[in-house]
Amino acid sequence: MNKFYITTPLYYVNSKPHIGHSYTQVACDCLARFMRQAGGDVFFMTGTDEHGEKIEKAILAHGYREGEEKKFVDEIVPVFKKLWKKLAISYDYFIRTTDKNHISTVQATLEKLYKDGKIYKKIYKGWFCTPCETFWSETQSPDGICPDCKRPLEKLDEANYFLKISEYQKWLIDYIKANPDFIKPDFRKNEVLGFLNEELLDLCISRPKKRMSWGIGIPFDKDYVTYVWFDALTNYISGVGYPQDMKRFEKYWPADFHVIGKDILRHHAVYWPIILHALDIAPPKTIFAHGWWVIKGEKMSKSKGNVVDPLELISKYGIDPYRYFLLREVPFGLDGVFSEEALVSRYNSDLANDLGNLLNRTLTMAEKYFDGKIPSGQGEALKIDRRAGLNLPYGSKSAEGLKTKALALAGELEKSIPNFDFVNALSKIWEIINIANKSIEDSKPWSLAKEGKTDELASIIYSLLEVLRIVAISIYPFMPLASQNIWAQLGMKDGIEKTKFSDLKTWGKLSSGTKVNKSAPLFPRIEGT
Ligand code: MSP
Repeated sequence: MNKFYITTPLYYVNSKPHIGHSYTQVACDCLARFMRQAGGDVFFMTGTDEHGEKIEKAILAHGYREGEEKKFVDEIVPVFKKLWKKLAISYDYFIRTTDKNHISTVQATLEKLYKDGKIYKKIYKGWFCTPCETFWSETQSPDGICPDCKRPLEKLDEANYFLKISEYQKWLIDYIKANPDFIKPDFRKNEVLGFLNEELLDLCISRPKKRMSWGIGIPFDKDYVTYVWFDALTNYISGVGYPQDMKRFEKYWPADFHVIGKDILRHHAVYWPIILHALDIAPPKTIFAHGWWVIKGEKMSKSKGNVVDPLELISKYGIDPYRYFLLREVPFGLDGVFSEEALVSRYNSDLANDLGNLLNRTLTMAEKYFDGKIPSGQGEALKIDRRAGLNLPYGSKSAEGLKTKALALAGELEKSIPNFDFVNALSKIWEIINIANKSIEDSKPWSLAKEGKTDELASIIYSLLEVLRIVAISIYPFMPLASQNIWAQLGMKDGIEKTKFSDLKTWGKLSSGTKVNKSAPLFPRIEGT
């Protein structure tokens, strides 16, 4: 069984999760579910980033005192876990940077790097961005403004520990060039190479406790804690057992995907591979940076009061429509403008009209004409094809039948989903839904019933039910609940998660005689918004 290790970033626990955080979760969940369907040995890890200045500030702002940090983070972490559960995020492991194992990994790696002479102490005089916790050189910021967050920088004069990352600059450039799949999408790779055109400064990996004490203690100097990014990035190896359980580590490492937002690309594509290389550990296979959700062109922020709360949207529209919208609306990798109107419009057109109607109409006909049982008609998609003239609606000159089209879907999904091309995968699924809907209009099963053409009618209804089976399996990674719902309506007793991806490759798996189980409309239309 192929191992597949996929990670999300660790979310800061200084505020509640919003749409941006849920975006990475849903995307990774979709891929993890897809890989499990395909028989992969998936390890999907997410978690929380709990140390550092940002968190310390939030802790104090919430009225907690120094020393009560753990109490605060322990209260916030369940808020994240609750949302992920609601969103059906099927992670295998939730890592916290305050976990004992993680702390010991961070300390072991620091110890090793220190012993190997890769960490040294010096007095740093220069710019520092407090909100980003990042050091900048005069060349990188001639105007004293943070190149990342555009806020004013502070002058710092303090002794700290540094990791010699400048030594590895050339290695990294060569590695990125030789491994085209290492940073995705390609334009992000070019961004990183652009950044590496400038001289790389050694990475400060400590903070003096007298300035900020909420962090993992540096093992070789009791007056310092670890820089929060060194701490957080290490989760990707501590979570799979490094160095305590090397057997497990060797099974899962290198990670197949680190999925992140574009704002944390430098940390993942520059600092992280170098830290690993300095430790003699291979880099992850692919770092994929997605875009940002913005609100009418503006960044979401608490002060602007435009932060989108996933819980509110889920309670209004449901879990699956929310997941569907995030993955269908905007190509993964690009920025997207969030609006509730766009969500409602997608819901009504794709979910209520296209998918919901197909399910409802097909099951209604199965009830009406075949006593609620799947008619016989295995292997026979031909009659529906002939009668419906399926070449017409999609501009194709050759007559492609429902069966051929449906069987070609697996190949499309195999190409698109592992490349995070969710938009293409979903459009291909919807092409089949639309052809099936069109074929009902064209073949007019109700006239066949009147004319007493039972064989042809059976063949049509059977083919439509088969399409629904294929649709249920293929939407599972995107909308696991709706997929299960369709599955149960088709009369299937086993859970949808028991199905295999290869089930998509065979036509005629439904057994005739099975009683369908039509229930309330899956996606009732949303009116008046
Ligand atoms: N703690 C660090 C990550 C450490 S990983 C070793 C962090 N946390 S975060 O909570 O600020 O952000 C987590 C993720 O959410 C990032 O990938 C970020 O890009 C993503 N998003 C935050 N706001 C977003 C949007 N508005 N839209 C899409 N994703 C965004 O950074």
